[in-house]
Amino acid sequence: MATVNDNYLKLKAGYLFPEIARRVNAFAEANPEAQIIRLGIGDVTEPLPEACRSAMIKAVEEMGDRASFKGYGPEQGYAWLREKIAAHDFQARGCDVDASEIFISDGSKCDCGNILDIFGDDNSIAVTDPVYPVYVDTNVMAGHTGEVNDRGEYAGLTYLPITADNNFTAAIPSQRVDLIYLCFPNNPTGATATKEHLKAWVDYAQANGSIIFFDAAYEAFITDPSLPHSIYEIEGARDCAIEFRSFSKNAGFTGTRCAFTVVPKTLTAKAKDGSEVQLWSLWNRRQSTKFNGVSYIVQRGAEAVYSEAGQAQTKALIDFYMENARIIREQLTAAGIQVYGGTNAPYVWVKTPNGLSSWEFFDKLLHTVHVVGTPGAGFGAAGEGYFRISAFNSRENVNEAMRRITEKFKL
Ligand code: MLT
Repeated sequence: MATVNDNYLKLKAGYLFPEIARRVNAFAEANPEAQIIRLGIGDVTEPLPEACRSAMIKAVEEMGDRASFKGYGPEQGYAWLREKIAAHDFQARGCDVDASEIFISDGSKCDCGNILDIFGDDNSIAVTDPVYPVYVDTNVMAGHTGEVNDRGEYAGLTYLPITADNNFTAAIPSQRVDLIYLCFPNNPTGATATKEHLKAWVDYAQANGSIIFFDAAYEAFITDPSLPHSIYEIEGARDCAIEFRSFSKNAGFTGTRCAFTVVPKTLTAKAKDGSEVQLWSLWNRRQSTKFNGVSYIVQRGAEAVYSEAGQAQTKALIDFYMENARIIREQLTAAGIQVYGGTNAPYVWVKTPNGLSSWEFFDKLLHTVHVVGTPGAGFGAAGEGYFRISAFNSRENVNEAMRRITEKFKL
């Protein structure tokens, strides 16, 4: 009989968001009259920017004409999109990133998992706690961990606690690790990193020959001009960091699918024979073999983000969600609930009131006020006692959810 990848059997019951959906669906089925407001998964709700839609419609028309029809595109993405990204997102901020170092993909969730294909199985790995579960689960699937304990921690991973005491930014570890996942603005806590904090990580990575996986999917939500948007704003990062970016949250592409990963050509890691190997070549080889690129139509839509109209429209979208975040923060604070994040990120990290555990608070909100959030414990043991509220929703739903929560939980 064929065998399975036993590593999958080590995974905790279900991926967090499907588990939440399961509980919400069961509640909805039993209570069909309940008007449920979903502030759980960070999925956008507002329509795609007009500039992106028009570009995609035009691209569809081109596909209908033999002269402009496109078949397979470059696996790395079209040069015109990569060049715009390099110029706007990196060079304009003084980052030394070339278009050829940008790989267009269908999502940073996929890239964060797929990147492990080009790394050895013997690397030591550090993640923060709480953490975006994809970083952990993909390492479990790849066989990089042992079993899970009853705190939900996998043997073999180094967990770096992020708490209110350290402003939800991990202390630099005292031991050596090979791979480090950092996410700023942070999912789930909404925390941000200063240039000094990132510089400390880059120094650590350079001193230890480590690679930082820098997830910057939420960089567009940074409002404080002193905060870095890219790890490449830090000197030396080209030699120790891979950065993941996405059009999902800034331009509403969660259903449209377009993202990109930056692998600098100067970045290397060691082969078993001790030689240094360029990671860019391996990722290029991986993508060329396992991926056929994002559709021409979607890439044209992403390119439109960088047009004048696209820039104005995506800014309006971001401002809209950040106004939701402000409402959530202010309403909960006024009700006596302690909140973090939500000023440079679309997530508000809430201390659960009355000493409730995060799943207890989840169930209570769902059952009493019909509002869905994400239990902090789902992001790791140190997330216990916290709850994530996403600002991705209509203004009407956010206002209504806050009204219901604050009426019920006023302290
Ligand atoms: C989240 O809610 O954490 C995000 O939607 C996850 C993602 O973007 O994959």
